Amino acid sequence: EGIRVYDPAYQNTAVARSKITEIDGEAGVLRYRGYPIEELAEKSNYLEVSYLLIFGELPNKVQYERWSNEIMHHTYIHIRVMELMKSFNYDAHPMGMFISSISAMSTYHPEANPALAGNDMYKVSATARTKQIVRLLGKVPTVAACCYRHRIGRPYNYPQSNLGYCENFLYMLDHLSEENYMPNAKLARALDVLFILHADHELNCSTAAMRHIGSTLVDPYSAVAGAASALYGPLHGGANEAVLRMLEEIGKPENVTEFLEQVKQRKRRLMGFGHRIYKNYDPRARIIRQVAYEVFEICGREPLIEVAIELERIALSDDYFVKRKLYPNVDFYSGLIYKSMGFPTDFFPVLFAIPRVSGWLAHWVESITNPAAKIWRPRQVYVGEGKRSYVPMEHRS
Ligand code: CMC
Repeated sequence: EGIRVYDPAYQNTAVARSKITEIDGEAGVLRYRGYPIEELAEKSNYLEVSYLLIFGELPNKVQYERWSNEIMHHTYIHIRVMELMKSFNYDAHPMGMFISSISAMSTYHPEANPALAGNDMYKVSATARTKQIVRLLGKVPTVAACCYRHRIGRPYNYPQSNLGYCENFLYMLDHLSEENYMPNAKLARALDVLFILHADHELNCSTAAMRHIGSTLVDPYSAVAGAASALYGPLHGGANEAVLRMLEEIGKPENVTEFLEQVKQRKRRLMGFGHRIYKNYDPRARIIRQVAYEVFEICGREPLIEVAIELERIALSDDYFVKRKLYPNVDFYSGLIYKSMGFPTDFFPVLFAIPRVSGWLAHWVESITNPAAKIWRPRQVYVGEGKRSYVPMEHRS
C-alpha cells in the first residue's frame, strides 16, 4: 500500500495470474494449458486449440462439433461492413483495413454494447461472452479475406461454412486454389499449424492491450481492434513483414556480414531476432522452419531462405548476439513461408492477427471473469514542471 515501483515498459511487473499459457524463456518452452506447443502443432488443429485456450480443456467430440459448427456458421459479415471495406483506397494497408473493419463491427451488433445491458454483462454472463466470441472467431477470417481481395483489386468472396477453418479462409482468398476453387489440402494444413503456433503467447504487447482495454468492460470488437493495433507495430506482429523487407534488402548471402556489422553499430535492428522473454531458440521458430520446407515442396523454394539461413548461422556464432541472447523468433521464418505461398508482404501481419484473436479472447475471458478484476490504471512518476502561472501570449518569448 502506497509503494510505487517505477518499471518502464513493464519489464518486471506481473499484472495477472493466468492459467492459459506457460513460457519458460530460458529453456525455450511454450505450453497452452499445459500442452507442449510441439504436440499441439503435430496432433491438433486451430479450432480445437482455440477451444482449449478459451475454455481451459480440450473439447470432447460433441463439444468440438458444436464449437466448429457455431464458428463456421458465423462466418458471414454484415453487408455494410463489406461496403465500408470497399471504400478503402486500393493500396490501403491490409492491417489498417482489418483494424477499422473489426472496430466497425461493434456498430453492426449493437446488442454487443454492454451499456444496453447493465454494463457488466460480459463479466456475469457466459452466454453473452460466448455469443460474441463465436461471432468474432467466425468473422475474422472473412474480414481478412476481404482485405486481401480488396488489396489485389478483386471482388470479395462469400464464406463456405461446410469447409474447415483454414480451408474456408484460403477458399475466400481464392489464392493457391486447385479444382473448383478448393485450396491445396497440404497448404491448408500448413496454415493451420501456423495458426496454432500464433494463437497465444501470454502477456505480449497486444494481449496486454486486450486485457487493458477489456478491463473497462467495453465490447470485445472494440477491444480486439485495439489489440490488433498493438500487433500492427514492427516490433510485434508487424515484424514478419519487416523481416521480409530486410531479407529483400540484403538480397544475397554474401551481403549478410556487412548488414550484421550495421546492426552491431546500432544503425539497424535485426528484425525477427530477439524477444523479451525467450533467451533461447523460440520453440515456434523451430517448428516454422520445418513447415517452411514442407511449403517449399509445393510452392517452390523461396530463394531468400538462403539469406535467412546465413543470417542465422553468422549471428548465432557472433559474440554480439550470443552475449545478448538474441535468437530467431516466430517472425523470422513465417514471412518466408507466406512469401513462398505468394501472399503480398503487407498481408503478413493480418495472417498473424487472425489466429491471435483466440488468444486475446481467452485472456479477455480470464481477466474480466476474475472476481477481483478492476479497471487497469497504471501509475506514473511525474517529472514535469512544478506549479506555474499562465503567461499571456504577448508576454511569451
Ligand atoms: N537487433 C539488434 N539488437 C537487438 C535486437 C535486434 N532485433 N533485439 C534486442 N537487441 C539488443 C538491444 O539493443 C539490447 O542491447 P544493449 O543491451 O547493448 O542495449 C539488448 O539486445 C536487449 O534488448 P532489449 O531492447 O532490451 O529487448 P526488449 O525485450 O526490450 O525487446 C524486442 C524485445 C522483440 C522488441 C526486440 O528484440 C526487437 O526489437 N526485435 C526485433 C523485432 C522483432 O523481431 N519482433 C518480434 C518479436 S516476437 C513475436 C511478436 O511479438 O510479434
